[in-house]
Amino acid sequence: MIKMINIVGARPQIIKAAAISRAIKNFFSDRITEVIVHTGQHYDSNMTTVFFNELLIPKEKINLKVGSGSHAVQTASMMIKIADVLMNEKPTCVLVYGDTNSTLAAALVASKIPVPIIHVEAGLRNFKKKYPEEINRIVCDHLSTLLFVPTIHGCRNLTNEGFKISDWGRQSNFDQPSIFFCGDIMYDNSIFFLEQAKKKSIILERLGIKNQKFILATIHRPHNTDYVKNLSAIFSAFDFISKKDDIKLIIPLHPRTLHVLHNSGNDIVQNIIERNKYLKITDSVSYLDMIRLEESAELIFTDSGGVQKEAYFYNKPVVLLMEETPWVELVETGCAMIGGSDSEKIINAYYTQKNKRNIVFEKIYGDGHAAEFICKKIIETFDV
Ligand code: UD1
Ligand code: UDP
Repeated sequence: MIKMINIVGARPQIIKAAAISRAIKNFFSDRITEVIVHTGQHYDSNMTTVFFNELLIPKEKINLKVGSGSHAVQTASMMIKIADVLMNEKPTCVLVYGDTNSTLAAALVASKIPVPIIHVEAGLRNFKKKYPEEINRIVCDHLSTLLFVPTIHGCRNLTNEGFKISDWGRQSNFDQPSIFFCGDIMYDNSIFFLEQAKKKSIILERLGIKNQKFILATIHRPHNTDYVKNLSAIFSAFDFISKKDDIKLIIPLHPRTLHVLHNSGNDIVQNIIERNKYLKITDSVSYLDMIRLEESAELIFTDSGGVQKEAYFYNKPVVLLMEETPWVELVETGCAMIGGSDSEKIINAYYTQKNKRNIVFEKIYGDGHAAEFICKKIIETFDV
């Protein structure tokens, strides 16, 4: 039996964990025992508990309760606590998702014990090391034994860094990693949960937008939240577009952004929010509510990695509130256009995207069974 520690910490990792847990429960519970360890990077109930309950994820065995802090404090305190967990639990392998500080901390610790690391969402790059996520991805990829890559671009990035695409599976080891193109587990979730969202979510009624056209927006990157100029430019663009097109903007906000709105004294943004009746700001919503909003929206503005892909999954045009994305295929297909944090660029991108009729949403993120594929490869590799 494989004992796999599954590390989660930030909202998107909990959502991704739903796909792996579901695959284990439905098909592989006789071969893999998963032990969920939550670093506590996210801790508000609408950033964590809501997803465990709604997506039926087994409760974490251990919560390290690290909370918020600088990169150094947060990562270091996770590392100390994860080391204890790995020494006590003695797992066969550790699975990590994506590119957060929780991913980095677990990878650094596991690699030195050593315990083999499985990296889900490997290979992504935006080639800008000023973003902490880029550093976390690179380090984690280069410490992992099994790398599961959601996109063709991701495979190319890894081969450019010296990885070889080969299905070594069982022969993989610390010095001979295997990389697999497997599709995106978030795509698995977007298919699996859509019908439930349509049946159970009452978010459209709650926000009074049932049968109304609306735009959805999310903002949480420090580059946007922590610079008055950038947040003001984004909200100025929202102000212009919503009034000109007579359309509501629904904006569920990450706690990071809500803290900034409440505490920064940014008069430009405050004025816009107080006076513009089209802008509806809410706390973060549950996953079922979020995908209901996504699949009902006319268009999406976002700086979220997950939300931009979900826009594609639900065939919605998207304007990216960031200058570069590791999900380059979204831009190549025309689904996404870069708006950055420049009002004029965001407005121009919006009108281009709004009027586009020729986006082809091909199946570039796998077949909706990425999590099962990942579990099979884990079993082939570690269940000896
Ligand atoms: C983290 C990830 C980012 C990911 C995002 C997903 C890193 C370096 N960044 O960014 O890649 O896109 O999660 O959401 O790991 N806060 C709360 N309550 C919470 C969680 C956070 O109030 O439950 C507030 C705190 O003020 C905290 C701030 O949000 O300081 C930022 O949280 P943190 O986890 O450090 O980074 P994120 O912006 O969430
Ligand atoms: N999400 C959610 N509620 C929200 C905003 C986002 O459930 O209010 C979900 C979204 O559907 C996606 C994931 O959170 O599955 C994306 O996480 P986030 O934007 O926090 O991080 P990123 O993907 O940028 O790392």
